[in-house]
Amino acid sequence: MVVDLTCDPSSAALPETGAPTPVWVAIGASAGGLDALQQLIIGLLPTGRQGYIVAQHMAGGVHAERLRQLLSHHSAMPVRVAADGDAPQVDEILLIPGGCHAVWQAGALHLLPPSEHYFSTPSVDALFASLAALPRGQACGIVLSGSGSDGAEGCKTLRQAGHTVLVQQPAEARFQGMPEAAMAARGAQVLSLADMTRWLQGPRLTDRPALNHPAPSASPEEEALARLLPAIAQFTQVDFGGYKVDTLLRRLAKRQRETAEPDLPRYVAWALGQPQELWLLQQRFLVSVSSFFRDRTAFEALAAAWSAQASTTPWRCWVPACATGEEAYTLAMLREAGVAAGRWSADFELLASDLNKEALAVARHACYAATALREMPVDYRDRWFLPATTQQEVWRVHEQLRSRVHFEQADLLHKVAPGPWDLISCRNLLIYLKAECQDRLIRAFHAQLKPDGLLFISPSETLGQAAMNLFVPVDMGHRIFRKVLR
Ligand SMILES: C[S@@+](CC[C@H](N)C(=O)[O-])C[C@H]1O[C@@H](n2cnc3c(N)ncnc32)[C@H](O)[C@@H]1O
Repeated sequence: MVVDLTCDPSSAALPETGAPTPVWVAIGASAGGLDALQQLIIGLLPTGRQGYIVAQHMAGGVHAERLRQLLSHHSAMPVRVAADGDAPQVDEILLIPGGCHAVWQAGALHLLPPSEHYFSTPSVDALFASLAALPRGQACGIVLSGSGSDGAEGCKTLRQAGHTVLVQQPAEARFQGMPEAAMAARGAQVLSLADMTRWLQGPRLTDRPALNHPAPSASPEEEALARLLPAIAQFTQVDFGGYKVDTLLRRLAKRQRETAEPDLPRYVAWALGQPQELWLLQQRFLVSVSSFFRDRTAFEALAAAWSAQASTTPWRCWVPACATGEEAYTLAMLREAGVAAGRWSADFELLASDLNKEALAVARHACYAATALREMPVDYRDRWFLPATTQQEVWRVHEQLRSRVHFEQADLLHKVAPGPWDLISCRNLLIYLKAECQDRLIRAFHAQLKPDGLLFISPSETLGQAAMNLFVPVDMGHRIFRKVLR
């Protein structure tokens, strides 16, 4: 069964309203900056939502045209040298000429003569500070290779105003002074040039989760999380903006305890430069653990509820957060038991999806430790599992049952599998999500169920006020609900 996951529950809620508000990306660089600029720019494509202003330290105006030519060879966007009063354009790179400073004011760049207040021209600090006056999230400051500390003050000002700051990884920069000084701004993202390019090409900067812009009153732990989440999203494509912060903080604290680093800011600074650590945090945040017949009586109650459903074939079930597969195989075994007893037609389909590729690989392989089968009725084990090792420490799901379940990777918060489904079994995921995401999902489930479709969640989860008129409880104790037609 191949199911195209194309129905986006969020699209109806958020209609597009014309062109997006542009984000103005200011790039500051000095010694070693030309190489870095070329590498960064080569991967940037027009997005229709960002414009770039470059402040590269130069000795005099004569170099600006040469820089324009050098960057133009690497750029998919036009590169232009700014004149006083020029309005920067989206999908364009504007260079500040040497020998002067530039500040943003009322949508235009104003060129100012050198002043003793700023040591280098064009001053990165002066440009960043002027952009900080833009509405929150509409400016982004980038600091690339350079000696000295120009840009550090500007980064702080940008961050305090809720804007994004990206800093080239010092280890990668030819001159570390400017990146190292800029990293002191709380909430600055330290990235390689390749990741910076990906970051800029990714979702609109203004659409990033609010966590990217922590409120000034955020605790040090929340600040730490706010620095890590965008980097995790960057490396793993998993965005945890919709997950409960408290749960993420607990998992982060646990992971930090496991490392030898007791100081949180130092742990964060280290983790930001370690893709492996970011991947591991993502795995910890997803918690892809499961078990067979988790809450056994609830599964028995569910099988009883199936008998009351109208018998349309095929009977179709979706498990949207299946982790390592145990829940989906449990449902398949129960369904097969009813088929064998002559209660239901053998025509049924089971789709199981999850965000976590690694967990899905386990699910597809379908080998489980003997200890994982301990709670399972023994007749099920004998019918549906074969020992995979001579000592019987590992058992594999029988091929016939494996062929019943189709596994697919999907991010439930972006796409839901199109129905109609007789059953959606979504257990132990809602509990990790913020209320608004839970609500959005439950509405999406309602839309994808058959008229008498069932929703099965876990005993530690509830449907909440918003869903009360969408479902009626079939068995409240076991969290089995039936769709209400509206
Ligand atoms: C605790 S496990 C639940 C496993 C299984 N449903 C059970 O109850 O035994 C939660 C699963 O939700 C998955 N998950 C988290 N966010 C998701 C998302 N946005 N889309 C799809 N799966 C997600 C995780 O990868 C993890 O495997």
